[in-house]
Amino acid sequence: MTETKFTPRVFSGIQPSGNLHLGNYLGALKRFVDMQGPEKETVYCMVDLHAITVWQEPKELAHSTRELCAGFIAAGIDPEQSILFNQSQVPEHTQLAWIFNCVARMGWMQRMTQWKDKAGKNQQNASLGLLAYPSLMAADILVYHATHVPVGDDQKQHLELTRDIAIKFNNDFGVDFFPITEPVIEGAATRVMSLRDGSKKMSKSDPSDMSRINMTDDADTIAKKIRKAKTDPDALPSEVDGLSERPEARNLVNIYAALSNQTTDEVLAEVGGKQFGEFKPMLADLAVAKLSPISTEMARLMGEEAEIDRILAKGADKARAIAAPILRQTYEIVGMVGAKQG
Ligand code: AMP
Ligand code: TRP
Repeated sequence: MTETKFTPRVFSGIQPSGNLHLGNYLGALKRFVDMQGPEKETVYCMVDLHAITVWQEPKELAHSTRELCAGFIAAGIDPEQSILFNQSQVPEHTQLAWIFNCVARMGWMQRMTQWKDKAGKNQQNASLGLLAYPSLMAADILVYHATHVPVGDDQKQHLELTRDIAIKFNNDFGVDFFPITEPVIEGAATRVMSLRDGSKKMSKSDPSDMSRINMTDDADTIAKKIRKAKTDPDALPSEVDGLSERPEARNLVNIYAALSNQTTDEVLAEVGGKQFGEFKPMLADLAVAKLSPISTEMARLMGEEAEIDRILAKGADKARAIAAPILRQTYEIVGMVGAKQG
């Protein structure tokens, strides 16, 4: 572990592909906000180049990118404190990704669960970008020498691959250049599940809108989705063990815990013994109280498109100031002529 050599720096990204939902908020965004602070640099990115590994309508992509930026700011990311930008404005990501394409092995990519899920049975027809996706993700992180990456549970495998790429690069070239990044997968809601099926994760791509709470949903919609969420007929247990065979109940309790900044144990100490008829309205009130101010602020910011674009451009300048020298040193290590003057 080479931690001492690298100053702590946090990096994470979210794809601007469709609506932000409660899983993104609790598994990622809220935790990005919690990690913001004067003692470490935080770099947050709208990964538009990742989004196009599957088809995106150009107009919708631009809209989603700005809406995601509004979501970051409304949730509490301060563009003066954190570096906030969209990936395509910092070409060093794709430049480093090419080097990593030549370090990573085909077998590593083909083993990725997300590749298998998204490409499905028709791998021959999937984009080459979808297969190479994790190498771009490694570049996103390592072009900043980031040491900590907060993500939801579904990104764990990609972060292991990022470590593998850093280790192989360092070994191949006999250097100690890229940090071995730590995944930060913490809290009560690292895997928020669908409201309709406790065995499936909440996702942008689920055809049923009732399966997720979107950050842009109004109070009535949030309350309705929680009221209709799938549950079982039993009362809530007083201890976590009592949730082990009850995925839907566990999910709602975890959501409550994450929204109220409590542990699952603390929540159960409070609500153990209650029926869902009583617990669901409590959860709906809490969700509306926490999410409504965010969606109101998002809508307000979306009225100021020029301001959003200005924030992203400024963030991209700050990001390039860190990424460009790291890419130049990488080129030098690899043996690219002209890298020194860069
Ligand atoms: P994506 O929307 O795939 O770009 O994901 C952005 C971030 O949200 C990543 O850190 C994911 O791990 C996280 N995330 C996405 N879906 C969920 C979920 N259902 N539960 C927890 N975290 C999630
Ligand atoms: N792959 C991540 C997702 O789908 C998004 C992402 C791209 C990312 N680059 C990243 C997350 C770098 C963390 C760090 O959710």
